[in-house]
Amino acid sequence: MKYLRASVTIFVLLVSLLAVVGEEDKPKKSKGDFNHGGHGGDHGGDFNNGGHGGDHGGDFNNGGHGGDHGGLQSDFYRDSCPALENIVQSIVWGRVRKDPTMPAKLLRLHYHDCFVRGCDASILIDPVNGDNTTEKNAIPNRTIGGYDVIDLIKTVLGQFCPGTDVSCADIVALAARDAVSFQFRKPMWDVFMGRRDGTVSNATEALRDLPSAGSNYATLRNLFARFNLDETDLVALSGAHTIGVTHCPLVFRRLYNFSGKNDTDPALNPDYANKLKEICPPPVNPATRVELDFESSRNFDSNYFSGLTLNRGTLTSDAALLTDPEAKSLVESYQDFDTFKKAFAISMVKMGSIGVLTGNQGEIRKNCRVINQNNV
Ligand SMILES: *[C@@H]1O[C@H](CO)[C@@H](O)[C@H](O)[C@H]1NC(C)=O
Ligand SMILES: *[C@@H]1O[C@H](CO)[C@@H](O)[C@H](O)[C@H]1NC(C)=O
Ligand SMILES: *[C@@H]1O[C@H](CO)[C@@H](O)[C@H](O)[C@H]1NC(C)=O
Ligand SMILES: *[C@@H]1O[C@H](CO)[C@@H](O)[C@H](O)[C@H]1NC(C)=O
Ligand SMILES: *[C@@H]1O[C@H](CO)[C@@H](O)[C@H](O)[C@H]1NC(C)=O
Repeated sequence: MKYLRASVTIFVLLVSLLAVVGEEDKPKKSKGDFNHGGHGGDHGGDFNNGGHGGDHGGDFNNGGHGGDHGGLQSDFYRDSCPALENIVQSIVWGRVRKDPTMPAKLLRLHYHDCFVRGCDASILIDPVNGDNTTEKNAIPNRTIGGYDVIDLIKTVLGQFCPGTDVSCADIVALAARDAVSFQFRKPMWDVFMGRRDGTVSNATEALRDLPSAGSNYATLRNLFARFNLDETDLVALSGAHTIGVTHCPLVFRRLYNFSGKNDTDPALNPDYANKLKEICPPPVNPATRVELDFESSRNFDSNYFSGLTLNRGTLTSDAALLTDPEAKSLVESYQDFDTFKKAFAISMVKMGSIGVLTGNQGEIRKNCRVINQNNV
């Protein structure tokens, strides 16, 4: 990308302007915004030039995880939209600067997307006719967000790379990476691309496939194993809670009625339990936020793991990582930030290839919230 530096700088300037305009425009946004011509065609032929799905082990610096990425490529849009990564980064970083909760939201969006039907942007689909059967309806929406950021990126890309359809699923993956990377001012992992967008979004599947806050270790391990994610991935990806928040209802039982006897979960450090009780006094207030990484949820660091080793895991599913010897030793090793950061990058790449649609599968949505056949 170095040879593109000059033109990219201009792109970034333009994009910064556009991003501002885009945000001001946002309340007026309608489906029509996406139908500005120019990028309608079928691109099946543009990219099906064989040779993807190969071994990308040497392409990037995360180390240790060569091999197949579910048919995704590191340079998928190199010719069709060379400024893609700069545009996405510019928009996402602009938003994160203004809203420090955005990294957690966009990371969660990507994770929820990938765990239900694979990384196919099914999470973005709005219910049609007021029904409540899409994935969006199945998840607690207080900890997820950034849908408008995805819409904005899609619009801006339509203007800068007309004729190129960048999938909503690729945008979600890039936005998550860039949001988390803002703190370090450089990309934390490579995003392999070429995902296509799904045409089904099903609330029942979201309820079935997403781990719950109350999951024990066996449940977590089995859910991850369904997607070929191993125990290392489980522990590393749980580290996303370094920037996570939850709300009082999800910790209430652990604090006040753990075994039905008005008791506190004995797995919880007593001092920490008292701190949480101050944050979440009865009666439970569903709107009160609880940091999963106490007093550190704006910082991507390894405090989450240090806290875990002191029994300061906030959710049952956090504390569960100490109940398995192998997971526990991973938790201990991830107290070292460099070790955690490397493991997280590797596992994010793996997660980003769960169940992806490629080639002629699925579609490239014109509007990330609407399946094309409904986009009339
Ligand atoms: C959708 O609405 C029906 C009827 O109100 C309700 O029974 C069901 O639990 C809702 N589903 C979701 C995922 O919210
Ligand atoms: C979350 O969902 C509730 C109930 O469906 C809705 O009233 C609320 O506006 C939503 N909040 C956000 C931030 O989307
Ligand atoms: C949603 O998924 C569930 C579980 O796989 C399935 O039983 C149901 O028929 C699906 N609903 C729709 C509308 O496809
Ligand atoms: C505590 O849990 C028990 C058993 O689940 C339940 O019967 C009881 O109502 C709960 N008490 C409170 C105060 O919520
Ligand atoms: C739990 O607390 C509730 C409300 O304070 C009380 O009514 C109940 O008797 C207590 N239950 C036990 C088992 O201590």
